[in-house]
Amino acid sequence: MSLLEIIDGEVTYTRRGEPFVAIRDVNLAIAPGDRVGIVGGSGSGKTTIARLMLGLVQPSAGEVRFGGRPIAEDLSALRRAASLVFQDPNSSLNPRMRVGRIIEEPLRRRGTPAEIATALEEVGLEPGMARRFPHQLSGGQRQRVAIARALIADPQLLVADEPVSALDVLVRAQVLRLIRDEADTRRFALAMISHDLTVVRQVCNRVVVVHGGAIVEEGPVGRVFDDPQHEYTRRLLDATLTL
Ligand SMILES: Nc1ncnc2c1ncn2[C@@H]1O[C@H](COP(=O)(O)OP(=O)(O)OP(=O)(O)O)[C@@H](O)[C@H]1O
Ligand SMILES: [Mg+2]
Repeated sequence: MSLLEIIDGEVTYTRRGEPFVAIRDVNLAIAPGDRVGIVGGSGSGKTTIARLMLGLVQPSAGEVRFGGRPIAEDLSALRRAASLVFQDPNSSLNPRMRVGRIIEEPLRRRGTPAEIATALEEVGLEPGMARRFPHQLSGGQRQRVAIARALIADPQLLVADEPVSALDVLVRAQVLRLIRDEADTRRFALAMISHDLTVVRQVCNRVVVVHGGAIVEEGPVGRVFDDPQHEYTRRLLDATLTL
């Protein structure tokens, strides 16, 4: 059974007073433990799909289900079971809160010192970092804090929107490995958004390709990489390989 399902999803924004359909006819099912990469160019609708999954934007048509139930029926259950890591840890971490407070927030209670220390160690940070403020950390350390916060309440689904694109290349590989290792041990389902196909290939087992607000191709990563069916997927692959 699917953990999360988007059925004929459509999202319409308003731009200059006019309706603008950002994604349409999106069908996507994520099973427990699944790792789905969502790739596509800038403006293709990736973040909109992530927001739709988490109930952060209303569908203008279609439906989103979590555990078989429409998410609109119980948004708080979804919020407890799913968490999000953003692209830019500079804007997603409250600059006035110490790391320890940031990490314990999803627990909706004070975390014990042991819980916070464990959460930090799990993402490769010293427990002493709990007392620092975000500006006292490097970009990679900040993204590790964001991941620790996302994982502390033991989510069934982690949605990561370009989690490494703000990081430099070496740190990027470390953070990707961290996400992959955490997914291996904790077995949460992962939806990872990236414009970079090689990032998805390292972590995900399945990939969906978004172009112009629609899913144009989907399949196991190996198949899509070795034998892309859609013209746009081929263009994306060529662009990655010639970098
Ligand atoms: N709040 C909004 N109001 C109006 N239009 C929006 C809004 N958010 C996104 N859009 C538009 O919807 C389309 C899809 O945006 P989205 O952010 O989902 O793309 P994306 O694939 O995540 O792009 P990027 O790779 O640049 O992050 C774009 O054309 C964007 O301009
Ligand atoms: Mg985006």
